[in-house]
Amino acid sequence: MTNSTNSPSFQQALHQARLETNTLLETLLPLPTGYEKRVVEAMRYAAIGTGKALRPFLVLTIARLCHLSSITASRIAAALEMVHTYSLIHDDLPAMDNDTMRRGKPTVHIAFDEATAILAGDALLTQAFDILAAPETHPHAEIRCLLVQNLAQTAGKNGMIGGQMLDLIGEKTTYSLTEIERMQALKTGALLWYACLAPAMAAKASKSTQAALEQYARAIGLLFQITDDILDIEGSSKTMGKTLGKDITAHKSTFVSLLGMPDAKKLALELEQQALDALEPFGEEANLLRETVRYIMERDK
Ligand code: IPE
Ligand code: IPE
Ligand code: MG
Ligand code: MG
Ligand code: MG
Repeated sequence: MTNSTNSPSFQQALHQARLETNTLLETLLPLPTGYEKRVVEAMRYAAIGTGKALRPFLVLTIARLCHLSSITASRIAAALEMVHTYSLIHDDLPAMDNDTMRRGKPTVHIAFDEATAILAGDALLTQAFDILAAPETHPHAEIRCLLVQNLAQTAGKNGMIGGQMLDLIGEKTTYSLTEIERMQALKTGALLWYACLAPAMAAKASKSTQAALEQYARAIGLLFQITDDILDIEGSSKTMGKTLGKDITAHKSTFVSLLGMPDAKKLALELEQQALDALEPFGEEANLLRETVRYIMERDK
């Protein structure tokens, strides 16, 4: 759900990103006839549907800003949504956050079984690289290689996976603010960084554009995870489509656990300003990115 303060054109663009990504995922994930059909059913169950599609939306919006072809953009968006979905399937497993609800329905290991959930996550991750490496994604092999390598680094031990490791260790360790920032920048910020930078890199955007987008991505990455941590306490489970209150019971180290709610909200306001400042070099063409900051701040799901 978008907020009342977001314009109809923002709401329309976010909705459009979900629809476009669903359509492409349908094509990329046809059901086979053999017994392996079960893993594809689980991949489709998790990936196609009702997630907010914030990452695809960022990819498509920045692609337009940088004049990237729409085919390249939608394939980057689909590949990234697959990696994000895989991260959620594994994040929900009993060995990790042990969650039973995601995107308003039972998690994959509940709807299917644990082994199928592991395999569906693995298959979404590996297929993302197949999509990016395919000639349809971009005519130049060198750009495709850049997209593949950056996604590998973003998703791996120096990115999302590294952050997930810190998140789990944080259940038993009291982190400093710097350590929490690093954990959140990795576990959530890394994929949002890719959403902002991959279309710019593929379009060979100028160094200054990429630097501005890096600054924007860093701020919204942290902001997105702070609002997730706040919503884990103050949100509605029904609207969020996942079980809330889990961070406290699992003893997670979060911005809220370290700073307390009022200071976590203050930090969110600072990051909101940093994200908007990063967009200063751009004119009106970046208005959707400005609204995205408001959306992340005020989201209820
Ligand atoms: C959830 O991401 C995991 C975090 C990084 C906090 P989203 O809140 O973007 O999840 P979906 O894609 O909308 O389900
Ligand atoms: C998840 O963070 C981040 C990744 C999946 C990489 P959380 O564990 O806080 O996400 P939710 O709250 O389960 O969506
Ligand atoms: Mg987690
Ligand atoms: Mg979780
Ligand atoms: Mg959370």
